[in-house]
Amino acid sequence: MKPIVLAITGASGSIYAVRLLEILLSTNRDVHLVISQAAAEVFRRELGVKIDLKNFSLDQLQFSPDTGSALDESPEQNALSSIISSDSSGKLHYHSINDYSAGIASGSFLTEGMVICPCSMGSLSALANGLSSNLIHRAAHVHLKERRKLIVVPRETPLSNIHLGNMKTLSDAGAVILPAMPGFYHNPVTIHDLVDFVVYRICDQLDIKQGLIPRWGDR
Ligand SMILES: Cc1cc2nc3c(=O)[nH]c(=O)nc-3n(C[C@H](O)[C@H](O)[C@H](O)COP(=O)(O)O)c2cc1C
Repeated sequence: MKPIVLAITGASGSIYAVRLLEILLSTNRDVHLVISQAAAEVFRRELGVKIDLKNFSLDQLQFSPDTGSALDESPEQNALSSIISSDSSGKLHYHSINDYSAGIASGSFLTEGMVICPCSMGSLSALANGLSSNLIHRAAHVHLKERRKLIVVPRETPLSNIHLGNMKTLSDAGAVILPAMPGFYHNPVTIHDLVDFVVYRICDQLDIKQGLIPRWGDR
């Protein structure tokens, strides 16, 4: 199985990225991870975790019970608490955002696809306009030019014409635009139910069968 590239940028919704990372690793996917500086700030504010962008390790995502975050409401279901204990057999490869020597900066490095989750409007704009000023942009452009799967998970509201235009441009270029827009028809009870709704749709796109999705029509 080829690895998956996961890029985390500075849009709200770090918890989506943590849950996705957990599922990828626990379904034996090797993950090449890149985190933007703005994403580290969002992690700090939303989840109370401090990410060291120079020396990232999974234990930095450990759940902290005193963040005061709404995510604390149900620690036993918190992705942050389970990522460490999950029976992970996929390997994590972390790349610094300025490391253009990383394999994922080249089309010759084969992958199953790339997910940008969550994706800020800033990164979305860079991608739509061909900018390549960090490893996340570069790896995304590689996926587009090689006609590999690129899943972009934007988060912003409301959306300007510029945002909408950038999404259209990327969609025309072959990317899948999968907004962090959970549905409510599965009767969610916790925030984690809402997070999982979005993450499971990403897994569907990657053809990852984790068997947990309540599918419409199954009942
Ligand atoms: C707490 C916080 C939440 C943010 N939420 C969003 C958001 O939901 N969507 C967005 O496009 N930008 C958001 N931003 C702004 C981006 O982080 C900012 O535009 C940044 O330059 C994006 O850089 P990046 O794409 O390299 O991560 C947020 C910033 C902070 C500090």
